[in-house]
Amino acid sequence: MSIRFLKNEKRFVINTKNTTYAFEIVFDRYLCHTYYGKRTSKLPAAKMTMLSFAPYIPELDEHKSPDVFAQECSFYGSGDFRPNALRLCTDGTGVTDFVYSSHRTFKGRLELDGLPAARADENTQTLEVTLKDSVSGCKLKLYYTVFADVDVISRYMVIENKGKKSVRIDKCMPMMLDIERSDLDMISLYGSHCHEVNFQRVPLHHGKQSVYSNRGASSHQYNPFVALCDHGATEQKGEVYGFNFVYSGSFLDEVDVDQIGRTRVLMGLGSECFSYTLEAGESFCSPEAVMTYSAAGIGKMSRNFHNFVRTYIMPPVSLEPHPVVLNTWEACYFDIDEEKLINFAKEAKKTGFDMLVMDDGWFGARDHDRAGLGDWFENRKKFPDGLASFVKKIKAEGVKFGIWVEPEMVNPDSDLYRAHPEWALRVAGREPLRSRHQLVLDMSNSEVVEYLIALFDKTFDGVDIDYFKWDMNRHMSNVGSSVLPEDKQGEVFFRYMKGVYRLFDWFVKRFPNAVIETCSGGGGRYDLGMMQYGIQIWTSDNTNPYDRTMIQSAAMIAYPAATMSCHVSDPHGDMRSLDYRYKVAVGGMLGYELNILKMSDEIKNKIAEQIKEYKTFDHIARLGDHYNLASPTKYGYSAYYYTTPTADEILLTVIEKADCKAGTTKLLKISAAQNDASYTDVRTGKQYSGQALRKGISVELLGERDSAHLYYFKKN
Ligand code: GLA
Repeated sequence: MSIRFLKNEKRFVINTKNTTYAFEIVFDRYLCHTYYGKRTSKLPAAKMTMLSFAPYIPELDEHKSPDVFAQECSFYGSGDFRPNALRLCTDGTGVTDFVYSSHRTFKGRLELDGLPAARADENTQTLEVTLKDSVSGCKLKLYYTVFADVDVISRYMVIENKGKKSVRIDKCMPMMLDIERSDLDMISLYGSHCHEVNFQRVPLHHGKQSVYSNRGASSHQYNPFVALCDHGATEQKGEVYGFNFVYSGSFLDEVDVDQIGRTRVLMGLGSECFSYTLEAGESFCSPEAVMTYSAAGIGKMSRNFHNFVRTYIMPPVSLEPHPVVLNTWEACYFDIDEEKLINFAKEAKKTGFDMLVMDDGWFGARDHDRAGLGDWFENRKKFPDGLASFVKKIKAEGVKFGIWVEPEMVNPDSDLYRAHPEWALRVAGREPLRSRHQLVLDMSNSEVVEYLIALFDKTFDGVDIDYFKWDMNRHMSNVGSSVLPEDKQGEVFFRYMKGVYRLFDWFVKRFPNAVIETCSGGGGRYDLGMMQYGIQIWTSDNTNPYDRTMIQSAAMIAYPAATMSCHVSDPHGDMRSLDYRYKVAVGGMLGYELNILKMSDEIKNKIAEQIKEYKTFDHIARLGDHYNLASPTKYGYSAYYYTTPTADEILLTVIEKADCKAGTTKLLKISAAQNDASYTDVRTGKQYSGQALRKGISVELLGERDSAHLYYFKKN
């Protein structure tokens, strides 16, 4: 059993393979957090103290205040002045006081009411703790679902309005963790379009520090992932707590260091882009957030999350080989038609590609990005015999077929918008702002979602599609819905996401043989919510291999290689650059995005060789364990390896940045190699003992443009 309740101590203990999480019921009312860390049976008792100015309940103990002890969930207004997890407005004040009422433990988990969530397997267990606010009659249920084998615990909350009046949730943070120390660094990922996920590590300071999105998408600007670690933590050493949110919309990650140097971590929907009214009898289920703990450095935290994401989040099909695609975007932009793409398919087949992906430009009046979004029917000028017939012809060439869609968007210059301007997010009396010449459809309006379902159902009926690339190319401003009353406008961000997930669910059911790659101008929705639907995510619109090295290296801190769609773009006839781009791209799931019709035979032959080689080792990155040896931001070069669980196969990559010093030799220790085994580097035939790999292989940096080194070690 990974979840236990010790009656005498009134203590909940959750054990995963390597970690323990514990909290206690104190005074039969408070949930007092006592421990999260390395697995142990020696648990500390709840620490309850007092400070001046801290409020208390005199009948209980005037020397103990909720402001001073570590809690499982704190509520606005009842004595804990730190940032709270829940602000529920039941009487205009926002004050509630939820107290422990009951709990139960069960196998598996409950559905999260239209939200993505980690899948349960036969070992999954859930703890449900129910609290009650006696004045309003509301119930709060806290859920802890345990994925013991990967050291991950998830949390979400359900609020039930059992009273007679409506109540409003003004802040909702399903993840809350109080840590008894603050000598920690905070790691987060910030960025912008084309420069996603830059690694940031800074010491915590007193006060609040946060990352967030107010954009309606998890965003390029801040990823929902955060970690806290010892100041001295490295890849291999130190304590690390990792957190992530299974959600794709606006979010808030708050970290607060309090007056006595304790740290509170909160993760959830926040308050700026969220409020939700519950009528009497209604309930609200939050998205879930996940946490992991590593006593063995950042690398172990990352591997915990990688295993968790692969096993419990991504669709099971993503464990199988991902198709090596040829995508038309950078090759053609909007200039596509049947004849051209059939020629693409012919060349793609000859070169060894699995699939042709027809990107933007195939529908409505989509000759540029100023028109057409929303009109999801094929452009007959480009595809005279229709989509089904075109796809048949593509398939006849021997490749699979993928297609681009951006369902959530509409161009003002489209038939859809002309017919239904009220279907775009907008605020009455205000002109909606545009971004990439487009507006966002009101996915909180079920009529819009049902319309899209009917439209795609018709357009793709009988079309043999193997793959959808699902894009989302702007953030939300003027967020308002024409179908919600004034007092419910604060719900639009959240209801929007539920509409989007509903449409994803429909796609998955309607096209069971197709897979999805998600995208939002590259990595604008690189999150665990999207990962539930897609076999991979388009990591960035930036395919420059130098930039990609930085982006991919940072993304790996939280997400497995199987999620990273990595394309080799046009090397402009430069064989060395082609090789470099390939070595960068095989760090994730390989694809190409170049005009195959304009490539020389030399380039095409090389690409064919690359694809062939990739297919011999792609399983190592897709399924294997990742070890980061050198981050490019810190060392000026990137070095990492993937290994199969028993280290029978190891893929080591070293990517030099443009400014590496020539002649420097780096000793790269493959500590996962088997000590008593011998290995062959399949690429060169060179022999290595496992011991030698563990001691370190010397790699000389060339310090030249486009230098990269790839080793594929196979146990003899
Ligand atoms: C976004 C995507 C690109 C491409 C274009 C098409 O920018 O990230 O890969 O699909 O849209 O408009």
